[in-house]
Amino acid sequence: MVLTVPDLHDDVVALRPPTPSDVGAITAAVQDPEIPRFTHVPAPYTAVDAVAFVGKAASSWRDGTDASFLVVDRTSGVLLGSVGLQKLDAVAGEAHVGYWVDAAARRRGVATRALRLVTAWAFETLGLERLQAQVFTDNPWSQRVLEQAGFRRVRDAPAAVEHAAGPRPAFVYSRSRDAAD
Ligand SMILES: CC(C)(COP(=O)(O)OP(=O)(O)OC[C@H]1O[C@@H](n2cnc3c(N)ncnc32)[C@H](O)[C@@H]1OP(=O)(O)O)[C@@H](O)C(=O)NCCC(=O)NCCS
Repeated sequence: MVLTVPDLHDDVVALRPPTPSDVGAITAAVQDPEIPRFTHVPAPYTAVDAVAFVGKAASSWRDGTDASFLVVDRTSGVLLGSVGLQKLDAVAGEAHVGYWVDAAARRRGVATRALRLVTAWAFETLGLERLQAQVFTDNPWSQRVLEQAGFRRVRDAPAAVEHAAGPRPAFVYSRSRDAAD
């Protein structure tokens, strides 16, 4: 899929691709243990991992396979989190969503705002038909984010999802293009 970087923002947050100058802030944010606990981000996480993330994001934007954004404060530009579409499949019209929010920026609606922005772009601009997310069953906070962005729990993941801490049960959430908010 050919991807053009969009201008995505609301009154509070803006989304933009990561750059090498973000390595320090990404590395600092990902030290919070909740991020590797609930995502596939490695732990321990060093600047080498952040450099790899930024490089992979750039090549994936070029290849049209993933669309990785940092979520920043619209006014100050401070890093608040990360959100992305992964496994973009133009033929099937599908992609997966993933995200994390800096511990200091949580409980203020950042993840919900970012997911709503990326979801609207995926449906309205990319023309995708369906977005999916896998969320561990012991992560009710992320399940709430997904529900607030119009996703619905459709089934249990077919098998325990592989994770660095061992396989764990997960739910599959989905939102289709024509679903009402
Ligand atoms: C899950 C996560 C992304 C939520 O980010 P966030 O910006 O705090 O989420 P929001 O502020 O948009 O919150 C959405 C809802 O969840 C609730 N919520 C979020 N975190 C919560 C917590 N720790 N305890 C209780 N409720 C919580 C919020 O109150 C809000 O509900 P409300 O509108 O009814 O009050 C963040 O906690 C995080 O990064 N966790 C670690 C990584 C992770 O889990 N990623 C997702 C993998 S699927």
